[in-house]
Amino acid sequence: MNVLVTGGAGYIGSVAVEALLNDGHSVTVFDNLSRGHRAAVDPRARFVHGDLCDVVSLENAFAGERYDAVMHFAAFALVGESMQRPEIYFRNNVEGGLNLIEAMRAHGVRRIVFSSTCATYGLPERVPMDENLPQRPANPYGESKLMLETILRWYERLHGFQPVFLRYFNACGATARYGEDHDPETHLIPNILRVALGQADAVPVFGNDYETPDGTCIRDYIHILDLAQAHILAMRSTATGAFNLGNGNGFSVMEVIEAARAVTGHPIPIRFEARRPGDPPRLVAAAARAREILGWKPQKADLRAIIADAWNWHRAHPRGYAG
Ligand code: UFG
Repeated sequence: MNVLVTGGAGYIGSVAVEALLNDGHSVTVFDNLSRGHRAAVDPRARFVHGDLCDVVSLENAFAGERYDAVMHFAAFALVGESMQRPEIYFRNNVEGGLNLIEAMRAHGVRRIVFSSTCATYGLPERVPMDENLPQRPANPYGESKLMLETILRWYERLHGFQPVFLRYFNACGATARYGEDHDPETHLIPNILRVALGQADAVPVFGNDYETPDGTCIRDYIHILDLAQAHILAMRSTATGAFNLGNGNGFSVMEVIEAARAVTGHPIPIRFEARRPGDPPRLVAAAARAREILGWKPQKADLRAIIADAWNWHRAHPRGYAG
């Protein structure tokens, strides 16, 4: 298939592009490189440098191409930042997303696989979390993703769009070539590995007084290669609607640090700090729908194997894509 991938220079997008190309698809990457990296774009892909909020550059990505589908990764994705600067989330994620789907409509492209998030649920009423939970985002990031889901549902009804919403839990891991390089880095696993690399003295652990067995927050860590496979399955299928993507296993912050100690052989000192505002205590996916309807089977569910992949990438790229 001929696929347009927005945000294909970002952490998850770059791995999806690599997987699409390995699978024999043609890929155009559209990215403004504000948070992504040119070096993260697979050289086999066509690259268009542009911004979703600039409709002229968006038109350049569509001109002369007949796409079968769009994978839409490009977005700001930091919960904390979205509480400080909600406007950039609504502009980039909602207005930019609307520009993209209007360009799709103009060019007769109806299939879109959209990177959504478990943050659209807010504080969940029950765990593990299925797709029927009410969506009550607790921050502008989750709200911006939900708003684009809502817009896409209307485009489904009114314009024959075929949208799939993939609601990720905690994306992590790496392939040999592509990994996680954010600035600033806020995510747990890369922050742990920075300590193992000697780039920081200790991992801050945000809160140890949650109502969980060891008092630290529980998350469902899903390998980006498994996320990439879910995108390809979703693109090929005729299904629409939402799919939660996680392994269904919850690990506490302390359990992740313990696993990283085993993988790296480094003692990884910790420092307990205050809770980080907006962190729900426990987010774990019920991903039966993706398994049943898309035939998705995560291949890299083992936490130590996930951390080992991330560790290999960070050791090979101690300064990220800069070297
Ligand atoms: N944490 C630490 N120390 C750190 C970094 C994180 O203790 O240095 C803790 C956090 O407080 C949280 C857990 O580790 O309890 C995971 O934090 P991450 O920042 O790695 O991931 P989040 O669960 O906050 O966020 C992820 C995605 C978001 C998505 C969100 C859904 O990054 O895009 O899941 O809740 F919206």
